Amino acid sequence: MMEPNTTAIDWQELINIAWEKRRPLWQNSHIDCFRVFHGYEEGSRGTVIEKFNDAAVIDYKTDIREDLPQLREALLHIFPFKNIIAKGHQSLGLSLKERTHILHGNDTLATCNEYGLKFTVKLDIPHNPGLYLDARDARNWITGNSSNRRVLNLFAFTGSLGLSSAYGKAAEVIHLDRSKELLPRIQENYRINNIKFETRNFLRGDIYKHLPRAIKAGKKFDGIILDPPPKVYQSPHAKHKTNGQDFPALIKYCTQLLNPGGWVLGMLHRFDFSCDDFEDQVTDASGGLLLPQSRLTSGIDFPESMPDKKLRVSIFVAHSDPGP
Ligand SMILES: C[S@@+](CC[C@H](N)C(=O)[O-])C[C@H]1O[C@@H](n2cnc3c(N)ncnc32)[C@H](O)[C@@H]1O
Repeated sequence: MMEPNTTAIDWQELINIAWEKRRPLWQNSHIDCFRVFHGYEEGSRGTVIEKFNDAAVIDYKTDIREDLPQLREALLHIFPFKNIIAKGHQSLGLSLKERTHILHGNDTLATCNEYGLKFTVKLDIPHNPGLYLDARDARNWITGNSSNRRVLNLFAFTGSLGLSSAYGKAAEVIHLDRSKELLPRIQENYRINNIKFETRNFLRGDIYKHLPRAIKAGKKFDGIILDPPPKVYQSPHAKHKTNGQDFPALIKYCTQLLNPGGWVLGMLHRFDFSCDDFEDQVTDASGGLLLPQSRLTSGIDFPESMPDKKLRVSIFVAHSDPGP
């Protein structure tokens, strides 16, 4: 295999500019995790760098392995990071060992803080370390809108969105994810925040199996968090062919599980849909019951010249009187 050459990028300059733009974030004492560098718009396509407290994770899709020592120095120049890890994307065709580099420090775990909540992250795992930083404002909204509500967190991952509900004094939060490894991570996030939980509320399983059962059992919620991946895999339990984020089918389930006045927070990850299309699709699938109430997006650490490339979050409210 050919060795990569260094790129002509002046990393120190790019990192300094990006860091200065994020001044409101690093000056905010309630946050110590944010995206430090969003290369798509800030000078190096395919490279993103995220800060989780005193750890930095560099993700690269373009081969910048030869630049990593320079990038490490640039990062240490702006912040006294204790750990810096670089991870190459699998599309580079390199083995996991070839594309993972511990550039500084020895720890592979970190705990970061956001608006009063702590989250654990695993720095060296191939995909997201455990906290989606673009959902910061969504978590904050959930905390402020969960009091006394029964909340269902679908596609829960490490539980950060449902944990925000629990922190916001939800009456109960149920997390559902199909991956077995995630349940202990949700539990750990509750534990480090001293938030009480019942393990029976952390469900492992397929959404297409659990939701019809919950409907049959007459379960009702006052808030549903719906964050499907950009492409939902076909489930053996789904009677239809799943498509993209599969909102029409998922919303039909949610509509039957929601109490009047309840909300659904939906996250749109696809670029082939506008926010208006998404909201129309949800309202239609709910038979007019769910109406869009407000929108949220990612923060200044995810600069995008095209607004539709940002994370788009819509909040829908169930009206007691469905339209004609
Ligand atoms: C994009 S992540 C969700 C991120 C999460 N909402 C957060 O903000 O931390 C997608 C998650 O959906 C889960 N998942 C995918 N398909 C599923 C299915 N059919 N049933 C249950 N969980 C599923 C995956 O295991 C993964 O954890």
